[in-house]
Amino acid sequence: MALRGNLLSVLLLHAVAAMASGESARLELVPAAPGVSVAERARDDRHRQAYISTRLASRPGGSRRVAAEAPASAVSLPMSSGAYTGTGQYFVNLLVGTPAQEFTLVADTGSDLTWVKCQGAGGASSPGRVFRPANSKSWAPVPCSSDTCKLDVPFSLANCSSSASPCSYDYRYKEGATGARGVVGTDSATIALPGGKVSKLQDVVLGCSSTHDGQSFRSADGVLSLGNSKISFAASGARRFGGSFSYCLVDHLARRDAAGYLHFGPLPVSQRPTAQTPMLLSAQMPFYGVKVDAIHVAGKALDIPAEVWDATKNGGAILDSGTTLTVLATPAYKAVVAALSTHLAGVPTVDFPPFEHCYNWTARGPGAPDIPKLVVQFAGSARLEPPAKSYVIDVKPGVKCIGVQEGEWPGVSVIGNILQQEHLWEFDLKNMLVRFKESICTR
Ligand SMILES: *[C@@H]1O[C@H](CO)[C@@H](O)[C@H](O)[C@H]1NC(C)=O
Ligand SMILES: *[C@@H]1O[C@H](CO)[C@@H](O)[C@H](O)[C@H]1NC(C)=O
Repeated sequence: MALRGNLLSVLLLHAVAAMASGESARLELVPAAPGVSVAERARDDRHRQAYISTRLASRPGGSRRVAAEAPASAVSLPMSSGAYTGTGQYFVNLLVGTPAQEFTLVADTGSDLTWVKCQGAGGASSPGRVFRPANSKSWAPVPCSSDTCKLDVPFSLANCSSSASPCSYDYRYKEGATGARGVVGTDSATIALPGGKVSKLQDVVLGCSSTHDGQSFRSADGVLSLGNSKISFAASGARRFGGSFSYCLVDHLARRDAAGYLHFGPLPVSQRPTAQTPMLLSAQMPFYGVKVDAIHVAGKALDIPAEVWDATKNGGAILDSGTTLTVLATPAYKAVVAALSTHLAGVPTVDFPPFEHCYNWTARGPGAPDIPKLVVQFAGSARLEPPAKSYVIDVKPGVKCIGVQEGEWPGVSVIGNILQQEHLWEFDLKNMLVRFKESICTR
């Protein structure tokens, strides 16, 4: 396989190394062709930050039981890094419909609509599975005249020729060409429990996308919405299981079979994170805002204007599982990059666009500086201390880059999934708190 100068080649090498050491017989590599270069992902992340900022700036002030179903107070799904496919997202497998069909979905806290590729979607370019609503006994279309369609479905189309017509959407993920179009219905989702039983969530709002575009959907069958919204999967899960959900992200370069988890319901006391910060929600927006108080590099608080972290001044920060690289608004970006690069000044540099600061780590002599510690301090004294590999990232063998990007200012800063990796994040929707702690995420 041809190695290219992008993240995919790192992933392939990691995979090859893992196979050579015999630790990963189950590892499967997908063809290199659908790989997305780190430059494309970096551009996607910047577009997404611009889109999220635009969306935020426009903000306005009965069920059937199934035999095998078991009452459960909490459920968990494996959640794995999609890096083996060359994408920067985390995937969850979900069973949808009756009889249940399995789909691989991007777990996205920036989404309010869960959708799957439907019959007719994508054609030959869509090798994955497709959902056939007509074959699901539990599928019910949502009419375009319903309040759910008119008030809750984001990007629903205004056309509603007859009141029984299906609710259509044209969902946009970022500025540019990433989105999905289709019709909305409800169906059940099935989650396997230990011991062979299952738990069912009824009446989950589900989009059936007949067309879609964007890199992220090449290797996934759709999106699992973990955003804050009446119709999101996170909300359905949290309503049913104790008002909260959590996820634990394994290292994004971990082997394909090294899964973290997505959990609904209270965490066992021994696992519950203690660091907590208020969850800042905005009306009709799926995003989980958090208040950053400061960023420290090597123990020193950086000089970043307070407006950058102030959501009322078009700044602020969100946690986003659907963004790969952290995007910081210009003043924060400049301060972080200046501090990190000053500390790394002794290491030979290499060019690796779009990153501004990349280092030849193999040529790093003895006595060369280490990666300084970066700490994100949130309101409520919660400190995120990511491992060095989460902000000075491996982009190809022997090459590391400062892995944050510059985002629009004014604009929101987006804490991406690489910065969140190897941590357990709990979104307590009932008490409006985000909790987190370091974890290797395997159970
Ligand atoms: C609404 O318009 C879209 C796009 O023009 C179309 O795909 C969809 O079928 C229409 N929906 C209804 C209910 O007429
Ligand atoms: C890094 O430095 C080593 C040793 O000087 C050299 O062989 C290698 O080609 C360099 N790598 C890159 C990507 O420049």
